[in-house]
Amino acid sequence: MTDFPIDSLAQLRLRKSAKWQVFGTDVIPAWVAEMDFTLAEPIAAVLHDAIQRSDTGYAWTGEVGEALGVFSATRWNWIIDSQCVIPVGDVLTGVGHALIAKTKPGDSVVINSPVYPPFFTTITNVAHRNVVDVPLAWDGSRYTLDQEKMEEAFSRNDVTAFLMCTPHNPTGRVFDRSEMQFIAELANKHQVFVVADEIHAPITHLGNEFIPYLSVAGEGPAVSVISASKAWNIAGLKCAQVVSNSAQLYGTLIERIPLEVQHSAGHLGALAAVAAYTQGAPWLDTMLAHLETKSALLGTLLRGQLPDVTFTPPQASFLAWLDCRSLNLEIDPAEHFLTQAHVALNSGPSFGPGGAGFVRLNFATSPQILGEIVARMASSISEKT
Ligand SMILES: Cc1ncc(COP(=O)(O)O)c(C=O)c1O
Repeated sequence: MTDFPIDSLAQLRLRKSAKWQVFGTDVIPAWVAEMDFTLAEPIAAVLHDAIQRSDTGYAWTGEVGEALGVFSATRWNWIIDSQCVIPVGDVLTGVGHALIAKTKPGDSVVINSPVYPPFFTTITNVAHRNVVDVPLAWDGSRYTLDQEKMEEAFSRNDVTAFLMCTPHNPTGRVFDRSEMQFIAELANKHQVFVVADEIHAPITHLGNEFIPYLSVAGEGPAVSVISASKAWNIAGLKCAQVVSNSAQLYGTLIERIPLEVQHSAGHLGALAAVAAYTQGAPWLDTMLAHLETKSALLGTLLRGQLPDVTFTPPQASFLAWLDCRSLNLEIDPAEHFLTQAHVALNSGPSFGPGGAGFVRLNFATSPQILGEIVARMASSISEKT
């Protein structure tokens, strides 16, 4: 397979995005979830066209819900009522405001650590609710929901919402139908509002089935907060979608979510999202095939050069959750690799309890850069011993 178009390291360093600006030029960034691939052609075309026509005014998001509906129906057989879609600037904004709208001060929200770090702060600092963490269980080969502990948590009077990361970041789990149905039954039984963060859904790897939460949710109130931003690498353009599972819930959210939030989607973000959902599937399929080879390459490189680091290939996305505990480092492995290998990774403990000794590595890059990342990490370990 020929490689996917990716600029050279020197060219990538010209990017002004966070991934490439936060650290110095001696560091290879493999942290924040941005991809190094070249933009999908249909998206680049609508953006170039808009700039050329000075079409940079206020966002009109009128086509976004329908475009998402076309994609979700074709991809997952998930039928969305486009009248129940609220475009917002980004997924975290949608998550925070859905929680504020449907829960009360003093309520608690369940999450499953290790999990995307802003889940903690969005619940506590944006929604001002409490976190109830039900860590995922490790069954020896993969992370799973701890069903007994989930039932215990959902039974609590203060627990009124569940913020589900599906597919799960950083573990890369794509929950199967029985796991999704388990959540739906539990949520309906205990009247728990489900906010499904499905930002990684379009990056579900070939051979795995993504089950949209709203396709199994039943009657209980639930939203999917989804976006084209991760799969097509357009996070800076700002357009996510909050999809309600009923007109009644949509009405409540429209009434309670502040107007400035309902107008927070960017114009270029809306244009890019529509292009991604309606014309971006061929690029996405090619990208997914390449991600599989990169995931396999990472496994080979680690086995060859860092055999004490354990890697379970993800079922979705481009993030590897690496178990570095056997390296017995005296400091957080992310700090070790940043200072000793000049590779920037995400620190495991920021994902919550259970993250100590882990790092998250972004492998959406070229084979050359991935090779250099692992070589640097390996030599920092051999220098130490
Ligand atoms: C699970 C998850 N949710 C939300 C986000 C952030 O999305 P946004 O920039 O749209 O808020 C990310 C980014 O990596 C993520 O992994």
